[in-house]
Amino acid sequence: NQSAVPGIFKAELAAEPGVVRFAEGIDTPVLLYNGTNPVIEAHEGDRVEISFRNGIPGQPTTIHWHGMPVPADQDGNPADPVVSGGERVYAFELPEGSAASYWFHPHPHGLTAEQVYRGLAGIFLVKPKDDPIPAEYGDTVLMLTDLRIAPDGTIPESTMTDFMNGRVGDHLLVNGQKNPQMAVALGEKRRLRLYNVTNARFLRLKFENASMTLIGTDGGLIEAPIAIDELLLTPAERVDLIVSFDKPGAAKLITLEYERGWMGPGKPDEAGKILLTANVSDEPAAATPPLPAKLRAIESLGKPVVTRRFVLTETMGGMNHGSMSMQGMDHATMSMPSDSMGMKFLINGASFDMDRIDEVSKAGQVELWEVINEADMDHPFHVHGTQFQVVEHEKDGKVTTPSYRAWKDTVNVVAGETVRILLRQDLPGPRMYHCHILEHEQLGMMGTVDVQ
Ligand code: C2O
Ligand code: CU
Ligand code: CU
Repeated sequence: NQSAVPGIFKAELAAEPGVVRFAEGIDTPVLLYNGTNPVIEAHEGDRVEISFRNGIPGQPTTIHWHGMPVPADQDGNPADPVVSGGERVYAFELPEGSAASYWFHPHPHGLTAEQVYRGLAGIFLVKPKDDPIPAEYGDTVLMLTDLRIAPDGTIPESTMTDFMNGRVGDHLLVNGQKNPQMAVALGEKRRLRLYNVTNARFLRLKFENASMTLIGTDGGLIEAPIAIDELLLTPAERVDLIVSFDKPGAAKLITLEYERGWMGPGKPDEAGKILLTANVSDEPAAATPPLPAKLRAIESLGKPVVTRRFVLTETMGGMNHGSMSMQGMDHATMSMPSDSMGMKFLINGASFDMDRIDEVSKAGQVELWEVINEADMDHPFHVHGTQFQVVEHEKDGKVTTPSYRAWKDTVNVVAGETVRILLRQDLPGPRMYHCHILEHEQLGMMGTVDVQ
C-alpha cells in the first residue's frame, strides 16, 4: 500500500497481536506491524505520511523513527502516546543526504522494552537518488533479533537478570529465521545491511570464509570502503557491508566472545553462534562493477560552542554488584521493575522523568557531548533526531580517535570509558537520549534535551 505519486510516500501501519510458529506445532503470541516486521523503502526528498493504528489491547504505543531527522512531534516520543485503539499520522520529509539504514520501534513510557521483545520493530531504508554502490551487489537487509520462548510457546516476562543486564533471548534470528541459507556464486559480492534489533545482545561478528568491507554505519555511507575482519554491533547499531565470497563451500556469519560486563549469573554464551550461511558454488560469478574508491564526502561538524557531560551510573539498591548475591534471584519475575530493590540506571545522577527537561539546547548549534561511563558494564548511548560524529574514546588516560569519519546515532560506551561526540540538532523540540539496552532505558537511563 505505497502510493504511486512520485515524491510522496504513503503507507499504513498497524501494531497488532499476531502469532508466529517458531517451534514445531507451537504457536507463539507476538506483536507485529501489519503481521510482520516490515521493510519500508523510501527515497531522499520524499515526503512520508504513515497512517498508524494502535491495535495492541490495553497498552499505549508510539512509533519512533530511530536515527531519522524527523520533527520532534513526529518522532514517537514517550510523551506522545497513541492509546490502545487510537490512530495518528506520522508525517515528515526526508532531506537530501539522509539516505541510510534506519529502523523503527515503539517508545511508550515504561513499555518500550516489552513491546520490542514481543516483536515490534521494522526497517526503514532511505535510498539515495544516485547510489554509488553497484546495483549488481543487491541490497539485503539482515534484521538480527533474539527471541526467548517458554516450552509452552509463550514469551516469558523479564527477570531480575534481564533488567540488570538487558534481556538477552535464546534464539538468535536473522529476518525471523534461524541460520537462513543463501546461495552465491564464487567471487560474488553482496551488499548486506546488518541491524542489531535485539533489546540487549552485544554482537561481535565475523564472516568465516568470506571477506567483509565496511561501507556504511548508522547514518549512511562512510567516505571510503574499509576492509574489516570483524565488527561489534551493539543494540540498535547498523552496518552496511560488502561481503565478497571468494572461497567455494560454506561461508558463515558467526558470533565471537565479547566481554560487556555481565552482572550476576546467567551470562549468555556469546561465541560460536551461526547467524547465516552462504553456500558458495564452484561456478564463478558474472563480472560486476568494482566498488568505487570514494563513496561520499562527510564534512566535519566543526567547532563546538557548548560542551555537555553525561555521566552514566548504575545503582543496585545501595549495594554495588560485586557484593550483591544474585543466587536464586535470576528467575524472580519483577512486576514493578522501576522500584525493584532500588535498581536504577542513571544519567547525571537522575532517573528519567517525562516531565523534566534535563538540557536546553539551540537548533543548529554544534555541541560536544562527553558521555562518561562510570558503571561496570557497557552502555550503548543513543540520541534521537540526529546523527553524530565520534571524536574520540578515552579510557584509563589513553585516547583513541576513529580512523574514519562516520555518521552514528548509537555508540557503545565501554565500562570506564569516556566517548566524545560532536552533534547538531537542526529541528526544535524535545529529544531523548538514552542507553539502548531497552531495560536500562526503562529503568531510568534516559534524559530529555529541549532544542529551541
Ligand atoms: Cu531506538 Cu529512543 O530509540
Ligand atoms: Cu532513537
Ligand atoms: Cu545500559
